[in-house]
Amino acid sequence: MLAIRLVSGPERLDTLVLPVRREGSDTPAMLVPTASPPADEVRAEATALIPAARLTGEAGEAREHLRPGGTPARLVLLGVGTGDEQDWRAAGAALARAARDETHVTVALPVDAPAALRGLAEGLLLGSYRFRLTEAGGAPALAEVDVVVADPDALAHTLDAARTTAAMTGLARDLTNTPSSVKNPAWFAAQVEAAAAGHPDLHLRVRGPEELAAEGFGGILAVGGGSASGPRLVELDWRPADARTHVVLVGKGITFDTGGISIKPVPAMKLMRKDMAGAAAVTAACLGAAALRLPVRVTTLAPLAENMVSGSAFRPGDIIRHYGGLTSETTNSDAEGRLVLADALAYAARELKPDLLVDLATLTGANAVALGKRHGALYSANDQLAADLLGAIEGAGERAWRMPLAADYVEYLGSDIADLHSSPDRGAGSVVAALFLHEFTGELRDRWVHVDMSAPSWSEDVHAELTKGATGWGVRGLLRWLTTLG
Ligand code: BES
Ligand code: MN
Ligand code: ZN
Repeated sequence: MLAIRLVSGPERLDTLVLPVRREGSDTPAMLVPTASPPADEVRAEATALIPAARLTGEAGEAREHLRPGGTPARLVLLGVGTGDEQDWRAAGAALARAARDETHVTVALPVDAPAALRGLAEGLLLGSYRFRLTEAGGAPALAEVDVVVADPDALAHTLDAARTTAAMTGLARDLTNTPSSVKNPAWFAAQVEAAAAGHPDLHLRVRGPEELAAEGFGGILAVGGGSASGPRLVELDWRPADARTHVVLVGKGITFDTGGISIKPVPAMKLMRKDMAGAAAVTAACLGAAALRLPVRVTTLAPLAENMVSGSAFRPGDIIRHYGGLTSETTNSDAEGRLVLADALAYAARELKPDLLVDLATLTGANAVALGKRHGALYSANDQLAADLLGAIEGAGERAWRMPLAADYVEYLGSDIADLHSSPDRGAGSVVAALFLHEFTGELRDRWVHVDMSAPSWSEDVHAELTKGATGWGVRGLLRWLTTLG
């Protein structure tokens, strides 16, 4: 893992990275004044290079300049755009890529710049993420980044938060990228157990098929019934003594989604190992809250099941009795996510009775149809809560868009044979799924947020701090939101 160190002056000058700002579209790019200014001749050279190399200062631009025999021997001019946190994040990721063959670089930071440090560090760490070193190109050589700041002690906490955020995002990416031949529900539970071990205030309870049956988790059992690898409900609880607020985070944990008896066609199934990205994100966020010792109680529920096709699989037309007693008719076994989430939401509302309830789920393909590849679809009946969470998500460099819990479609959830129909063929897909979940939130009805994160959970290409594959979407936004709750 890349080591980032705060220093008050450059200690090793092999490669020096100088930030370049873009003032506006018609003003030229310019060097950003830094806490530890470079030597006069270095500064003069860098200043001359900006027009000569036609640098724009756009976030993510990185230009290496060799100075044989000089100190430093290499200069990297790094575009940081407007200099806000998100632009620095893109710059950090670009630097991780541009300097992947160097072992050590020194970055000069502006004076008093916690947002710049936060963005730079997260960008460096997230941009150099590799899935267990199996990706083409292998591990980057870049091992150490010294960041020159005015007062290292004053920024230590900011760096720590960035490291934890990036490490937990990396954990969520690892879990989500892992092939489904490895990550069945029991494996996921074992990973959480290993990650939580040793924290005195983290409590873990894993329910297997017998306990789920005894307690009436009918949705999880139905969806998991077709698999040789039985379902689990992983309940992880960060319970600090000084907590005044209790948040429950629920994440969809389908370790592979074939669609079940209503089987998916080949193109729709190829990436369905990612269908537990919600469970990965909420679990990683809880571990992050514990690592940062945030003074808020966070309980995560990961209902885990593999949606398979077999003689024991549930069928279209089946009626499921969910936790708490509500029943649902299913006519499409591919609408499985809402069935496992319904149990977990009902359990949270009835037994855990938190102050706030949030769920993250790769719930519908309709998320991408409505909003494209990078925005989650956020639903809530509570404007303040929706705004708070959207603000945290945005501030952390992720994106979501509020969608309506349109009452017009509630009637489509009606069934002749059960309390609810789980897969009506009318109404907007992502909205109807949200409305179905809403029915299970009980007393938490107006203190609940649902995010359909099917689209942003995966990236088809390298984009700023995103690498190809799982993005770990949600970890950053949730952690930032939890930090504000204390
Ligand atoms: N896991 C899928 C949703 C999904 C699709 C996630 C694409 C990521 C990318 C979910 O279980 C599903 O199959 N949803 C159906 C719902 C339909 C059957 C009502 C869908 O979106 O088609
Ligand atoms: Mn499905
Ligand atoms: Zn699914």
